[in-house]
Amino acid sequence: MKFFVDTADVAEIQALAASGLLDGVTTNPSLIAKSGRKILDVVAEICAIVPGPVSAEVAATDYEGMMREAAILRRIAANVVIKLPLTPDGLRACKALTSDGAKTNVTLCFSAVQALLAAKAGATYVSPFIGRLDDIGMDGMELIRDIVAIYRNYPETLKTEVLAASIRHPVHVLQAAKAGAHVATIPPGTLRSLYAHPLTDKGLAAFLADWAKTGQTIA
Ligand code: E4P
Repeated sequence: MKFFVDTADVAEIQALAASGLLDGVTTNPSLIAKSGRKILDVVAEICAIVPGPVSAEVAATDYEGMMREAAILRRIAANVVIKLPLTPDGLRACKALTSDGAKTNVTLCFSAVQALLAAKAGATYVSPFIGRLDDIGMDGMELIRDIVAIYRNYPETLKTEVLAASIRHPVHVLQAAKAGAHVATIPPGTLRSLYAHPLTDKGLAAFLADWAKTGQTIA
């Protein structure tokens, strides 16, 4: 499973990239607003830090506007992925951009048939939002399982990767991986919390205490 970080905070991205475990980045208009920075500047900086796919979302809602904005975003760097909403215009733009060699991420996916449409439009990634479905009393993970099962039925024609989004906690990452999602985009805090286990801390403390008793150094 690939790990993307879901943020436009360059300092966070820089720190997480140093782990060597970061495969890509996703942003959205809300995350750009939170950064307080201009989208072109912040996406350029992120692309220079992370060589993997970096999703930048269009703000237009009509096909022509999306295509215009996508052309500008694509000029930022070769690893920019154009993020498009799952609307008729968004999928039309997805199809056109895919034919032109661009990488695309179809976002705001809340049903399996929407994901089927995204794959038919040639999306590189589809982003089903787990947490936002859980928030309204639905089972976000069931959506991931359904999309993975559907795509697996048509391996020759549906090449889209399932990018589990709107992840809120480590169990979402665990369940998305078990369901076979290709990618999880994870908020920085949740990504860092994947390392944590009290028995790791306790075990390390005991090893260090015993090691100190030996009086040895590894040199
Ligand atoms: C996906 O690409 C979105 O940026 C993100 O995962 C949305 O998450 P949220 O529901 O926590 O805002």
